[in-house]
Amino acid sequence: MTTGGTTETTPRVTMEEITALAKRRGFIFQSSEIYGGIGGFFDYGPLGAILKRNVKDAWWRETVELRDDVVGFDSSIIMHPQTWVASGHVAAFHDKLVDCKNCKHRFRADHLPSLDKCPDCGMSNTFTEPRNFNLMMKTSIGPMEDSANAAYLRPETAQGIFVNFKNVYQSARKRPPFGIAQIGKSFRNEITPGNFTFRVREFEQAELEYFVPDDGNDIAVYEQWVTARKQWYSDYGVRPERLRFYELTPQERPHYAKAGTDVEYLFPWGWGELESIAHRGTYDLDAHMKLSGKDLRYFDEASKTHYTPILIESSAGMDRTTLTMLIDAYETETIIDGEGKESKRVVLRFHPKIAPVQIGVFPLARNKPELVERAKRIERSLRPFFRTQYDEGNVGQLYRRQDEIGTPACVMVDFETATDGAVTVRDRDTMRQDRIAEDKLAGYMSDKLGLP
Ligand code: GAP
Repeated sequence: MTTGGTTETTPRVTMEEITALAKRRGFIFQSSEIYGGIGGFFDYGPLGAILKRNVKDAWWRETVELRDDVVGFDSSIIMHPQTWVASGHVAAFHDKLVDCKNCKHRFRADHLPSLDKCPDCGMSNTFTEPRNFNLMMKTSIGPMEDSANAAYLRPETAQGIFVNFKNVYQSARKRPPFGIAQIGKSFRNEITPGNFTFRVREFEQAELEYFVPDDGNDIAVYEQWVTARKQWYSDYGVRPERLRFYELTPQERPHYAKAGTDVEYLFPWGWGELESIAHRGTYDLDAHMKLSGKDLRYFDEASKTHYTPILIESSAGMDRTTLTMLIDAYETETIIDGEGKESKRVVLRFHPKIAPVQIGVFPLARNKPELVERAKRIERSLRPFFRTQYDEGNVGQLYRRQDEIGTPACVMVDFETATDGAVTVRDRDTMRQDRIAEDKLAGYMSDKLGLP
């Protein structure tokens, strides 16, 4: 069953517009661009780094800090190679790969509409037999590059949590139901990275592993997490009509999973997965206990019994969520000025908590030292409480730039400020301008932006 979703069929923004804006305004750049780039890797510019951090902070705040049943965690990227044997990644973390013998292009077999004809060169019957390609990235530890020193860059953060389950519950004095959360880098040697930062080879995951006793409440807890995650996207401004929750059928789920939901967003190229939420039974802890020979069961003091808790997992991609915020916020508007002149503006309608800059502050004229000084002073006074930016120049261009980077409010210091002690506050979405006393500005902004 799918809940959410939309009837919208024409995306309002193209990926070309998003990548152009991302580069122009310093959100996202191709990695190693001066050397021609490297496929599947991206860098976050000054605004992109803040945007992504805000997305991660929003996840961490709601998943860890505002709950008393979830603790934070941060495990190493490289783990003992046996970890990936136990998890099943060595044996089964494969995609099927085919090569076109004519144009030599390489594809993921499940991404091709048909194996009869190459979509790049148009030749028929030129594909090799599909073969398994393991997606884990290899490295080696120490000075000798032999197989004994081989290791993997983790393809998911979750396993660091599983192998530490006992360390965490004992040191944090937690008993199920409780969760362990971490945000960190993961690596997958994707055969065909693409769609900008959607499918990349280095990315960040935010994973919550929630352990519950086998007391018949497991499905209810799973459903609570689906609801909580739905709420999270809505609270941070992702439009519900572009989000859907697809419930996996038993055939689509791994054999050990009792339930699973994919959170999907309507990207310009179609629906794409942002997050998977899964009821994974006791599979992961059982697998590590079996291979390591170590007991990871929870010891319940009250009943003096050991048991393996059931796991509910929520695993969200932070790069995909950041890209979603960028695409979802993007709008082009036609505006008509006081003289009836039409122009277009691009505006990113970020939620104030997600916006990289929350308040832009400018003087009306950059050649008037008294306005410049006052604007700088106001920006400095707001800085401890908000993400602010001082800028100066042509007023129209200043607003245009702040609209394009999604700043919810701008403050203009003008010639009247010296006499009435007030500034003009311009709202990004309505473009309405209000006159606010300088000494009331911080309180006014807190209310306006919905920030504490
Ligand atoms: N521990 C469960 C797990 O890793 P997954 O569905 O393979 O589940 C979870 O990955 C999320 O990680 C995905 O929904 C996606 O947002 C993100 N993700 C996975 N592969 C990715 C890639 N190549 N590029 C960017 N994000 C990726």
